[in-house]
Amino acid sequence: MSRIEVLAVASELFPLVKTGGLADVAGALPKALSPLDVRVRTLIPGYPAVLAAIEGGRTVRELPDWFGGPARLVAAKAAGLELFVLVAPHLYRRDGGPYADAAGRDFADNAVRFAALSRMAASLAQGLSPRYRPDVVHIHDWQTGLTAAYLTYDGGPRPGVVCTIHNLAFQGQFDRALLPALGLPAGSFTPDGVEYYGAIGFLKAGVRLADRITTVSPTYATEICTPQGGMGMDGLLRGRADRLCGILNAVDTGVWDPAADPLIAVRYTAEALPARAADKLALQQRLGLAPDAKAPLFGVISRLSWQKGLDLLLQAIPALAAEGGQLALLGSGEAGLEASLLAATRRHPGRVACEFAYDEALAHQIQAGADAIVVPSRFEPCGLTQLCALRYGAVPVVARVGGLVDTVIDATPMALSAGAATGVQFAPVEAAALEIALRRTIGLYRKPRTWRKLQLAGMATDVSWAKPARAYAALFAGLVRERGG
Ligand code: ADP
Ligand code: GLC
Repeated sequence: MSRIEVLAVASELFPLVKTGGLADVAGALPKALSPLDVRVRTLIPGYPAVLAAIEGGRTVRELPDWFGGPARLVAAKAAGLELFVLVAPHLYRRDGGPYADAAGRDFADNAVRFAALSRMAASLAQGLSPRYRPDVVHIHDWQTGLTAAYLTYDGGPRPGVVCTIHNLAFQGQFDRALLPALGLPAGSFTPDGVEYYGAIGFLKAGVRLADRITTVSPTYATEICTPQGGMGMDGLLRGRADRLCGILNAVDTGVWDPAADPLIAVRYTAEALPARAADKLALQQRLGLAPDAKAPLFGVISRLSWQKGLDLLLQAIPALAAEGGQLALLGSGEAGLEASLLAATRRHPGRVACEFAYDEALAHQIQAGADAIVVPSRFEPCGLTQLCALRYGAVPVVARVGGLVDTVIDATPMALSAGAATGVQFAPVEAAALEIALRRTIGLYRKPRTWRKLQLAGMATDVSWAKPARAYAALFAGLVRERGG
């Protein structure tokens, strides 16, 4: 089969702009697909950070009035990625993040901002740029969901559309009065179109109108088809289950490599694991934790939101400290959670340290220096920090949900004796069970031979994109074949 041309559409892209794992995935997948004869070009909004990073931009099309202002579509490269950038200052030239201002308030016009992106994706897919005809459009999350709607209601030939759900908690629901402003015909407002509980559903449109739906782990693919995990969309997803599959995320093993990581104090390999002790000490010093080589050091790198279950960890901190453990937490998000975590650092000086920031370097240093990484999520489509942890010889301690189930092998006596165990799982996702898991982890840590086995099994786990990239390539190829390509 000849090369497949994919137009990916994403609202964030590592290393240019990132709020979470979506950026990591959108940034890594094109590189992983390239050796498989799949060429990906990614359409992203022209945020200031994107415009600052692109090299050699070429204007593909001037757009005198694109959703309320003049815009331009630019083809460019950045960080080894081939991009289309929608330069639209009235929509994307803002302080703050991709979705919210510096104070964390969502931009009031997000519906228009991401409809404009999706409309551009659809137009590109229909031949806006001469000679560019993608075989597949790959849309990510609610921000790009309307792409499938525009392609459907425009009529005419269209490439296959794959819609990847990274997080069902964010669905992009907006007032139906916006329909004309978004350029959607009145007839699209039906249950088989963009209508969703009386509003316009961006993700709903993607899920309903795409040719294939994927999510980022097999277990999450199952969970979202149930009323407990479906967040209102389970009925629709069950109805389209024959189009839905889970493809596990992975990490960019070039960016996350303890043997070559420029951001950590001392580099190490599985063969020279004791060198890791220097990273632990460096982390303790940096965060003001007691420089104690023997204290089991738990790390967290996370958005601070209900999803991530850090309020449960907060409840378990007294037990953790009483067992001689330490906690190093890097996170940003909900102010209330920050305040309670800060109070915990005051109650446990030298034992609990929190950094409330987005800090790429510190994220790497925690992976390299912590003995274990805790991910107590209430739900987790895939999760990436436990994958990085495996690669860095930090033992993941995870809630038994979503992608965490699929990526960590619990240290049961049988898995331990078979040498298969890579971490600790707990359920139900409650403080008491987490507390037991933390004690269990400390027990394992205090048996150095067992602990070393866990670390080495984790480090031997393939967390690279090689296998998932093959799954995406096969999915794209199947779709192209089905559509007669
Ligand atoms: P989610 O996308 O739900 O936030 P993931 O585990 O999939 O969760 O991805 C989170 C990504 O963001 C990881 O690459 C993680 O290292 C990174 N990350 C999260 N919080 C921070 C932070 N405060 N500073 C630096 N990196 C962070
Ligand atoms: C989402 C999910 C996370 C997943 C990431 C990348 O933000 O919360 O579990 O790893 O997307 O797919």
